[in-house]
Amino acid sequence: MAETTYAKGLEGVIAAESEICQIDGANGKLYYRGYSIEELAEHSSFEETTYLLLYEKLPSRRELEEFRRRMRESRQLPAAVRDMIREFPRAGSPMELLQSVVAYLSSTVEHQIEHSATCNCRRTLHQIAQMPVVLATYQRFKEGELYLQSRPDLSDGANFLYLLRGEEPSDEEGRIMDTCLVLHAEHGFNASTFTGRVVASTYSTCYCSISAAIGALAGFLHGGANERVLKMLDEIGSKDNVDSWLDKTLSARGRVMGMGHRVYQAKDPRAIIMERMLLDLSQEKGDTRLYDLLKQIEESFRARMEEKGKPIYPNVDFFSGSVYTLLGVPRYLFTPLFAAARSAGWLAHILEQRKDNRLFRPKAHFIGPEPRAYAPLEERPEPAEPAVV
Ligand code: COA
Repeated sequence: MAETTYAKGLEGVIAAESEICQIDGANGKLYYRGYSIEELAEHSSFEETTYLLLYEKLPSRRELEEFRRRMRESRQLPAAVRDMIREFPRAGSPMELLQSVVAYLSSTVEHQIEHSATCNCRRTLHQIAQMPVVLATYQRFKEGELYLQSRPDLSDGANFLYLLRGEEPSDEEGRIMDTCLVLHAEHGFNASTFTGRVVASTYSTCYCSISAAIGALAGFLHGGANERVLKMLDEIGSKDNVDSWLDKTLSARGRVMGMGHRVYQAKDPRAIIMERMLLDLSQEKGDTRLYDLLKQIEESFRARMEEKGKPIYPNVDFFSGSVYTLLGVPRYLFTPLFAAARSAGWLAHILEQRKDNRLFRPKAHFIGPEPRAYAPLEERPEPAEPAVV
């Protein structure tokens, strides 16, 4: 047996080969199947990017038209899913709702768990296309609004905003929302993607794998930083308070949310695109307050960190929450939207896992008790304090 090493949290461990996502952390570069995120954000749509992730190439015009038609047809929510959303406990998290919907959808298809040109995971597409629709419908029901049919003439981003607000967004808003989905569609071997691949490695369905990945993303160490950036902005309040807030937070060894990244040692390329979109949107709406506040925090924080010889740059979450806020998306939908976009990347990874599968089976370094004799119940002493339940 090969010699094994222990790496807590699997940090630095290469657990699979992948052709999907390349991240050059030192230079702040990100590529989906070789195409730079800058080019995809400028020229592509969420549908085309999803095609690229799932089919390993950019589509021809005809292929894209056909794929777009299938994606848009798949947006239609089955009556049972609408009922699930309506009945979902008010205190529940929309991440749990997404997990449940994806698991439910699994029971509506006949599974062919294989990787081939006809693989039905790439044929159904509702496990991607319905996600933003579920979220917008959740919000509508929460606000006491009626179910609204998706618009087949709108992109995924524009359709999401249309359902959320009940009226068509401007072209610019629709484009920005769709680009946000492109920016979040894939990001390599992180905790949720790894979770999805582990489940897929057992030849479980893609739905079970995606549902598990959503569960992993729900934790605040993974998804959720953009919501925290907004809380931070509430706390700081205005540009005048930035320096005193930073002094207080950094002297208490606190963190500036949306700053720094495990993988990028330069500015996250998605943050650069988000920042530009935030500026465009702020100017269109005539409200640059959030943008100005974020730029002030970025500059003051960078100056302090550079003084310490530790430059730290914004990650994608620094600007994304403010973009969503200006688009009218409530905070509790930020992480679920991330999941909706990432479902494309998860599915690509699940298909890749099946292509050359090996069941994941790491082992733990055992640090428990040595083998010992089982004591019959009557011989076990009662502890002074019963174990805490
Ligand atoms: N605010 C303040 N200081 C920060 C910081 C931040 N956002 N990010 C890193 N630092 C500092 C740390 O305090 C540490 O200083 P020290 O060496 O004096 O202890 C140093 O920079 C290195 O930090 P470390 O936590 O080892 O870097 P990392 O690469 O492991 O951390 C994150 C990456 C994302 C966990 C970290 O940057 C962070 O907590 N960011 C805020 C949360 C966030 O935005 N998360 C979303 C990520 S997509």
